[in-house]
Amino acid sequence: MAGESRQQSDPVVRPPVWETYGPADLSAVPVFSGGFINFGYWKGVDLEGPLTEADRIRSEQDLYRHVLDAAGPHKGQVMEVGCGLGVGCALALEEYRPARITGVDIHPQQLRRARDVNAPLLEARPDRLRFALGAAESLPFGDGEFDCLYSVEAAQHFPDLFAFAREAARVLRPGGRVAVASFFTVDGTPAQADRLAGLLDSYANGLDIARPVSQLADALTGSGLVDVRTRSIGPQVWPGWDRWLSRLWEPGTWPRNFLAAWEERVLDYYVVTATRP
Ligand SMILES: C[S@@+](CC[C@H](N)C(=O)[O-])C[C@H]1O[C@@H](n2cnc3c(N)ncnc32)[C@H](O)[C@@H]1O
Repeated sequence: MAGESRQQSDPVVRPPVWETYGPADLSAVPVFSGGFINFGYWKGVDLEGPLTEADRIRSEQDLYRHVLDAAGPHKGQVMEVGCGLGVGCALALEEYRPARITGVDIHPQQLRRARDVNAPLLEARPDRLRFALGAAESLPFGDGEFDCLYSVEAAQHFPDLFAFAREAARVLRPGGRVAVASFFTVDGTPAQADRLAGLLDSYANGLDIARPVSQLADALTGSGLVDVRTRSIGPQVWPGWDRWLSRLWEPGTWPRNFLAAWEERVLDYYVVTATRP
């Protein structure tokens, strides 16, 4: 565990999540850039021409912007669940100007990186940005403390979407908004879990969990949230992500199968939004 001491009260981290975001530090893998760990939102990027590092970082930032636009407005207290290195929290703070952003992540090593990467901002504006160790299924905050809760490419790891939805509803104030961007299986496609485990190592090893997107929508509705909406953003994610991957991964290697899973209509990338009445 790389010298990290864990307290008994710390949330339980599933082994593939512990490994991927701890010792293996996915943020340092060359297909991710700028401290972000997401596939990116590639609208407006010319996928026919050569892609640059700047295109890649912009795609990861634009995924945040897309989710934050869907979640808005963000005047008050905002929480990001599964914040990783917290660079998306910093973007949200600078571009959307809420009163404060709280970045929550289950992995203590990710939080350490987040505090290191954002040290100048944390020092300059301790009233505007903070990071907290916590699980999506058991958020370490009181009822009704937040105006907005968003999550970018983390929910594919959450073991219990119903517990997450209950927690999201609990910590939001009346009128508060939630926006979740992640990949889920497509409703109505049979045997997705087996197919995904065959195509993608991240499903075979349990890092990502196969669930239909309707499970999250149902969980949010069942938790009392209203105006629950699900939108596919697959066309803006998968072709660009695969084009970027092609710089490092040959056709037929497992990460290139994300595009195949989307083309087979097994997997898609979604933004799900809801409001606390
Ligand atoms: C793919 S990274 C995304 C990080 C960041 N949102 C970004 O886009 O750069 C997923 C993050 O979710 C965190 N995570 C995984 N399971 C979680 C859970 N149950 N509760 C909170 N965070 C979790 C991981 O530790 C990791 O930092």
